[in-house]
Amino acid sequence: MTGTTTRPAGPEQLRSRIAAELDRTRARTALLTEAVDEADLTRQHSPLMSPLVWDLAHVGNQEELWLVRDVGGREPVRRDIDDLYDAFKQPRRDRPALPLLPPQEARAYLLTVRDKVLDLLDRVAFTERPLVADGFAFGMIVQHEQQHDETMLATHQLRAGPAVLHAPPPPEPTVRVDGEVLVPAGEFTMGTDTDPWALDNERPAHRVHLPAYVIDAAPVTNGRYREFIADGGYDDPRWWSPAGWRHRREAELVAPMHWRRDGDGWAYRRFGRWAPVRDDEPVVHVCYHEARAYAAWAGKRLPTEAEWEKAARWDPASGRSRRYPWGDDDPTAEHANLGQRHLWPAPVGAYPAGASPLGVHQLIGDVWEWTSTPFRGHPGFTAFPYREYSEVFFGDDHRVLRGGSFGTDRAACRGTFRNWDFPIRRQIFSGFRCARDARPEESQP
Ligand code: AVJ
Ligand code: FE
Repeated sequence: MTGTTTRPAGPEQLRSRIAAELDRTRARTALLTEAVDEADLTRQHSPLMSPLVWDLAHVGNQEELWLVRDVGGREPVRRDIDDLYDAFKQPRRDRPALPLLPPQEARAYLLTVRDKVLDLLDRVAFTERPLVADGFAFGMIVQHEQQHDETMLATHQLRAGPAVLHAPPPPEPTVRVDGEVLVPAGEFTMGTDTDPWALDNERPAHRVHLPAYVIDAAPVTNGRYREFIADGGYDDPRWWSPAGWRHRREAELVAPMHWRRDGDGWAYRRFGRWAPVRDDEPVVHVCYHEARAYAAWAGKRLPTEAEWEKAARWDPASGRSRRYPWGDDDPTAEHANLGQRHLWPAPVGAYPAGASPLGVHQLIGDVWEWTSTPFRGHPGFTAFPYREYSEVFFGDDHRVLRGGSFGTDRAACRGTFRNWDFPIRRQIFSGFRCARDARPEESQP
């Protein structure tokens, strides 16, 4: 079962909901790409990232490929640029040297494509064809643009120079959240068959049995993470996996990315402004290896992906898996720090309305949470509509991250949504929480 909020009553409601989502998403893309000048848009701010103008035209090109050409069956707008904006043909480090569309041309291209899409949206029949049923292809394209918006936000975070993005600070805590939550042994439903805009890697729904486990009620905070640093955690190979330790030495990791010493404490650079590291905020910009080392130091481990999802979705009262920790309704500003409304994670205790029935907080929003699970297909996985979205990344090279960050839009975030990255990556808005097996005396009711 999914929430009624995402399954509109009829085709007209679906049409207007899609139009609103396309519009809202394009406004965010515009904000991210109009905040800087043309030179800044075409520059590569980090070898890990594309120039912003590549993301911009790539978003338009994907919209053209899937909606104008495939769903609409219309003539190509610009077949000549397909290869330039194919992420598999152009490695990131090579993108700045490509003959990319200059910013004004890229904007004009996006407008032309969008006009055709809105025209098509007026006429499309939402038949049972899987690509269009429930408006799936439109939802996929909205999510794709939002994902690139988050990527562009991470590029902004890497950009040197004065601040150009502005947002109010996240809300202050209203409850005290500390400690751990016991999740009893038993089966739950992982993944979904019914959420209409869920992507291929979230499907199909399947039953998973987990022994009793304990999970942190909140993400690991800067305050706790500072204790790990102060205790020499970065210098003690006991806490690190062999690959993690090798990486820690090669990359000379000493603290999360974007931190520097500030007197006795630490400061954290966010979007061009230095601020003191605040102890009650979830730590962000750590890689998988750092998360794993912290967990070992704390006498715990990272949760598996299934443990994260059960904590986020399983409702002990009904036994059902819901779309979000708080139920099936779409997120609002009361539930979670999502959608770039704020430019950093909210302190722990700021979102009591977003907690799960068992009392696990801030699973959605704030920071992407590393899990110990390599990215693979759920049992019965079928690639849809293209292998290059998920399937080509399956294997041991990537770890799964869950829950979304302050920079993730609600359209691209839910209890089943799966993100993945290399274990060394930390330019993304990544944090974590810890888990552990329940001790026998804890798991007895
Ligand atoms: C799901 C965030 C890992 O950005 O590499 C964007 C999403 N896929 N365009 C990425 C994606 C194709 C993807 N992540
Ligand atoms: Fe893409």
